[in-house]
Amino acid sequence: MDLNFTRSFFPGLESPWIFMDNAGGSQICRTVTERMFDFYRSSHVQLGASYGPSVIATERVAESQRWMAEYINASDPCEVIMGSSTSLLLRMLASNLGRVLPKGSEIIVTNCDHEANIGCWRELENSGMIIKPWKINPETFKLELPELERLLTRQTRLVAFTHSSNILGTINPIADITRLAHTHGAMVCVDGVAYAPHKPVDVALWNVDFYVFSFYKTYGPHYAMLYGKKQILDNLPGNNHYFIGKDQSPYKFQPGNVNFEFAWGMCGLRDYYNALFEFHFPGDNASDFRYRLNKVSVLISNHEHLLGNTLLAFLATKPRVRIIGQPTATETRVPTISFIVNDTDSESVVLKMDKEMIGIRFGDFYAKHLVRDLGIERYNGVVRISMVHYNTIEEVDKLILALDRII
Ligand SMILES: Cc1ncc(COP(=O)(O)O)c(C=O)c1O
Repeated sequence: MDLNFTRSFFPGLESPWIFMDNAGGSQICRTVTERMFDFYRSSHVQLGASYGPSVIATERVAESQRWMAEYINASDPCEVIMGSSTSLLLRMLASNLGRVLPKGSEIIVTNCDHEANIGCWRELENSGMIIKPWKINPETFKLELPELERLLTRQTRLVAFTHSSNILGTINPIADITRLAHTHGAMVCVDGVAYAPHKPVDVALWNVDFYVFSFYKTYGPHYAMLYGKKQILDNLPGNNHYFIGKDQSPYKFQPGNVNFEFAWGMCGLRDYYNALFEFHFPGDNASDFRYRLNKVSVLISNHEHLLGNTLLAFLATKPRVRIIGQPTATETRVPTISFIVNDTDSESVVLKMDKEMIGIRFGDFYAKHLVRDLGIERYNGVVRISMVHYNTIEEVDKLILALDRII
């Protein structure tokens, strides 16, 4: 992967800082901001009128809806619901399901999710639902399928789990979990926030019922999307005005409408992946976007594997360090790497990195159940280094040099 070419798409990377808090938020791609500015300049009007600029704005938002569906491999653009954040979209979904699921329905939540995919479901206890926790094996840091099988009953209606934990970096076996849940008649709601910045999302392949992630971690603005299977969405009441019909997905879930310029901006991600493809595969004339995305993603995964492997290999040489997650770079891990240092407050490590102009972070990252269950609250959470494809091996070397002096 040509890192000079790749990084040229991110003006923020011209900064002297090294950005390794990408699981907190990534840099924004210039092809996204260019489209946003273009929207402000040329079509910043309300949708749905007959005059020219409004026709353009309407078509732009419709195109972004189609592109997002293609980006996640959904068959119908009306399965894409946009909203301000993953947290809000999940709350909206939970309020809808809470109105249609029978009392006594069981919902399984994990202890390794961000609170966004736990709290909104737990609150349904007030509406008569029964919540069951599915905990990771604290030795392997993995969600285990036999444990899920033990929890599933004929009353289970939903399994809410994370595709990849924002602390552990482990990629959970989404298709296997979904198959098992479906066998018992339960739906799945997957938080893809920590996964989507790294690998292609494919809701059709995994057969998930709901999948959600945030654009500000996938090189876009502070915005998010929720995928829902059409036949399920059609049977939910929605949150919009009384005169917005039940058949009007996604509008019935988007009161006040979407953010037009962010939606249009996200088409800039398609421009970015197309540019990466055309640069790296000059002889390949394929035009199918998903084909292109998959080819580019192999390059991205190989590079991210190198970054993760280099850092993990260094951490393994440090006797005072305990990695919170899988200790080696594998296919089932993203380069979000967390650790604690014996007898050390995680904050103190991060503050020293600030002085080196390396942006990392400490804490529980709203995965409070995980940090509590692992007994690492007293460290003030973990030190988390989260890298993405635009990070360089030189940056990892600088980080290692700085870490080596203090841990
Ligand atoms: C794994 C995970 N899920 C959900 C969220 C919440 O996303 P948002 O800020 O869009 O609500 C975050 C935010 O950090 C996250 O890391």
